[in-house]
Amino acid sequence: MSAFHDLYHGKLVLVTGGAGAIGSNLTSALVESGAQVIVLDNLSSAERWNVPSSPNVLFVEADITDEVALKRVFFEKPDVVYHLAAFFANQNSVDHPERDLEVNGLGSLRLLQYASLAGVERFVYASSGASFYGSDTPLPLREEFMSMHLSTPYQITKMVGELYCNFFYNHYGLKVLKPRFFNSYGPGEIPGQYRNVIPNFIFWAMKGLPLPITGDGEATRDFTFIGDIVDGLLGAGHMESVVGQEFNLASGSETRIVDLANMVNAATGNSAGIQYVSRRKWDTKNRRMASIDRAKDLIGYAPKTNLEEGLELTIQWFRENWERIEDSASFAPGSSSAVRQIATTHAEEQI
Ligand SMILES: NC(=O)c1ccc[n+]([C@@H]2O[C@H](COP(=O)([O-])OP(=O)(O)OC[C@H]3O[C@@H](n4cnc5c(N)ncnc54)[C@H](O)[C@@H]3O)[C@@H](O)[C@H]2O)c1
Repeated sequence: MSAFHDLYHGKLVLVTGGAGAIGSNLTSALVESGAQVIVLDNLSSAERWNVPSSPNVLFVEADITDEVALKRVFFEKPDVVYHLAAFFANQNSVDHPERDLEVNGLGSLRLLQYASLAGVERFVYASSGASFYGSDTPLPLREEFMSMHLSTPYQITKMVGELYCNFFYNHYGLKVLKPRFFNSYGPGEIPGQYRNVIPNFIFWAMKGLPLPITGDGEATRDFTFIGDIVDGLLGAGHMESVVGQEFNLASGSETRIVDLANMVNAATGNSAGIQYVSRRKWDTKNRRMASIDRAKDLIGYAPKTNLEEGLELTIQWFRENWERIEDSASFAPGSSSAVRQIATTHAEEQI
């Protein structure tokens, strides 16, 4: 039985983006915790098969900017909203900045408006610690180290979402929470051109291809297992102490990209090695490692899964779902240098 059983039993929870990487895991955990869940997702970067199948999950395929859909889901009177739908992520927003603003800006504003009118108990906004802290900020990255010099439209609009949350909290008293994630990974994230490095590395490795590293591989990231993020979200979702607060949900450790690539190759038995490609212009952040002190103090957050264990679980999910992952993974040659080079290599191999 889930540790959160008593807290979510009988609650109706709206999860926007519930078909996505974090949202699908959150939805499963909420159902296990006794909640009924409405998933609102337009499947723009996810697949229907990734939505947990349960009589306690109602799937509504619609856009978060669509007010007809918003009326439909808010008529159900959700107790809690987890707002995870987003135009994801950096490179995608560089390629499509207006759509990024529409979804992450206007979409988030509309959700806050409907949540406020409906009087929900909590509104949890999926924020991005990896985005907001400056390139030269000392480690570990603390919540107050915000930068005004952001390098992609996604980073700007994720911050806009937080600022709107603050407005609804201060002006209307909406009980908002702003957990800030760092690079999440785990079962449920389908690889693709605009996806995170870990699912893409696993995908290429399982195909026996070299892993593309943008830059020199010395950059570090704070990779956080999705299960730990979900525990943090469930733990925070009912607490009074976090209302109005922003707090990092991360692993609190850093890993060099080259070390990650070697771990993935070893864990999958891939002998094709690494391929270095040029760094992306917007990728100005060299080292990322979060302070998780605030989440520890506020909600007793304690990540449990280290990178080796998390990679094993993720690779296992890839093996179990390989056929549909291969069908769903989309790597059309585009603007991402890493993907373009590998996709071209693969396309040439197929010819
Ligand atoms: N994954 C990370 O490393 C990370 C880091 C920081 C913040 N975040 C934030 O966490 C949230 C979840 O991230 P994720 O990795 O699960 O992303 P994801 O892309 O896997 O999930 C987002 C979901 O939202 C849906 N969606 C996109 N636009 C939509 C729209 N207009 N209407 C309805 N649904 C829409 C997508 O189809 C997808 O299922 C996002 O808000 C993201 O910005 C993620």
